[in-house]
Amino acid sequence: MESWNGLGWKDLKAHPVPPLPWQGHLPLSQVPPSPVQPDLGHFQGSRGSHSFSGQSSLHRVQPVPGVSSWVEHPAGGYKKLFETVEELSSPVTAHVTGRIPTWLRGSLLRCGPGLFEVGSEPFYHLFDGQALLHKFDFKEGHVTYHRRFVRTDAYVRAMTEKRIVITEFGTYAYPDPCKNIFSRFFSYFKGVEVTDNALVNVYPVGEDYYACTETNFITRINPDTLETIKQVDLCKYVSVNGATAHPHIENDGTVYNIGNCFGKNFSLAYNIIRIPPLQADKEDPMNKSEVVVQFPCSDRFKPSYVHSFGLTPNYIVFVETPVKINLLKFLSSWSLWGANYMDCFESNETMGVWLHVAEKKKGRLLNLKYRTSAFNLFHHINTYEDNGFLIVDLCTWKGFEFVYNYLYLANLRANWDEVKRQAEKAPQPEARRYVLPLSIDKADTGKNLVTLPYTTATATLRSDETIWLEPEVIFSGPRHAFEFPQINYRKYGGKPYTYTYGLGLNHFVPDRLCKLNVKTKETWVWQEPDAYPSEPIFVSHPDALEEDDGVVLSIVISPGAGPKPAFLLILNAKDMSEVARAEVEVNIPVTFHGLFKRA
Ligand SMILES: [Fe+2]
Repeated sequence: MESWNGLGWKDLKAHPVPPLPWQGHLPLSQVPPSPVQPDLGHFQGSRGSHSFSGQSSLHRVQPVPGVSSWVEHPAGGYKKLFETVEELSSPVTAHVTGRIPTWLRGSLLRCGPGLFEVGSEPFYHLFDGQALLHKFDFKEGHVTYHRRFVRTDAYVRAMTEKRIVITEFGTYAYPDPCKNIFSRFFSYFKGVEVTDNALVNVYPVGEDYYACTETNFITRINPDTLETIKQVDLCKYVSVNGATAHPHIENDGTVYNIGNCFGKNFSLAYNIIRIPPLQADKEDPMNKSEVVVQFPCSDRFKPSYVHSFGLTPNYIVFVETPVKINLLKFLSSWSLWGANYMDCFESNETMGVWLHVAEKKKGRLLNLKYRTSAFNLFHHINTYEDNGFLIVDLCTWKGFEFVYNYLYLANLRANWDEVKRQAEKAPQPEARRYVLPLSIDKADTGKNLVTLPYTTATATLRSDETIWLEPEVIFSGPRHAFEFPQINYRKYGGKPYTYTYGLGLNHFVPDRLCKLNVKTKETWVWQEPDAYPSEPIFVSHPDALEEDDGVVLSIVISPGAGPKPAFLLILNAKDMSEVARAEVEVNIPVTFHGLFKRA
């Protein structure tokens, strides 16, 4: 307990609570729900509980006393998230405490950067390190951990030439100094080689699994051995210049994704692509990819950055934000002045946000102009239909300045006071619910069209026929984000739902796991001193009756913990209490996204 005080854990010491009788290592079925705790104050309108398990066998649940419960990180343990590690030649056995549910069988696959420099050349941005694919396997209560670098062109060529060869998101690859001036000159005009550094996510297409970034290149991997199989160029299958790392996968295996399309004569659009499920003929579904809807672009030369989109059984929602890609820089100047992807972004300070809706089956755009004030958007939480409305839940960052400007590794590796100083200048996070009416009547001009009883979100029809949206705030904490949202996707994706699980970012440092009831705004939090978790993946119990019957999986690093600095954490999704953890003797750098592949 003493060392916690030094880390800013005064609240815990000031409000000691004896261990509760169920806070041990009980089978999941025996863990009773945590009691609802008093109002927190610092989450707007939230109620919640706070779960601490600081030392090996001490497990506590107690209320959060107030604003001061936000923890501090003066020891800077989060810097370990951005350190190069070696891959493993074979899986290692993890040391399990608690009891892994016997029904939990399969693999947690996750992607992130694992190599943050090549020789003496550093990568500069969070999205530049070379892709490392991680796997935790669960089998009969035992856990193993494995990881391999994805053999992308970017990685293989860097290893071969011992320098950064392919320009990454925020790092320019200088030409080979051994080449003479003429060959260097011509190599500039060959055009930029687009990176295939698949560090963001992994997803299934048919029976295959692909690691991906956001360019036109995805990389097929073997989900059992983590070996790289082949690079796939989406441009060869369908008309997009890239696709997001957040496709929607329907229960029959159909894949939907969205990507920018830079057409002839500078025509710009956002294309929704559909990859059908595997058919009886076993032909690669990629061969049957098609564009099903095209969303127009608000600016002829500048498409918006798009990271994810919304999908319901009948509608597709695309949120066009003011973070723009300046195509003129991107297409012509880049190779001449040696810029990287980050240099091609700019903000439109006046457009705000435009939302677009299309009918999924007919591929038809709704002729409705939804507008709201400026925000950055990376992750949709969920979208559903209700009585002529679309409910669109988002993790927003307020304002038009690009949040990625704050994600340079130098910022993220700074000392805690500097991390906080930087984050205070950045756009501020807020989880929000927008409600979009699917039809309008001109007679309602000036009125709020939202008639759903359970939301304070509004949609006002203006005389110019735009529909101005004001959100309902579902989570807000100054400089504390609810991000990397996950839901019980298989059963509730695109449908009315109650719970979302997220990673808490404290001034961009991931330091808590949070469950949020989007109806009541009640929250449950898992947090430990000097521990840095990743996106929580929900895995439902095979016989689940309720939406939150299951567990939440997260990779956590705990640099001060001695010989076992990282672990896979299993939480009861009901109350975010710990069920088990599987510790490994190696550090695990930051991972962004992933999935659970059932055995
Ligand atoms: Fe993402």
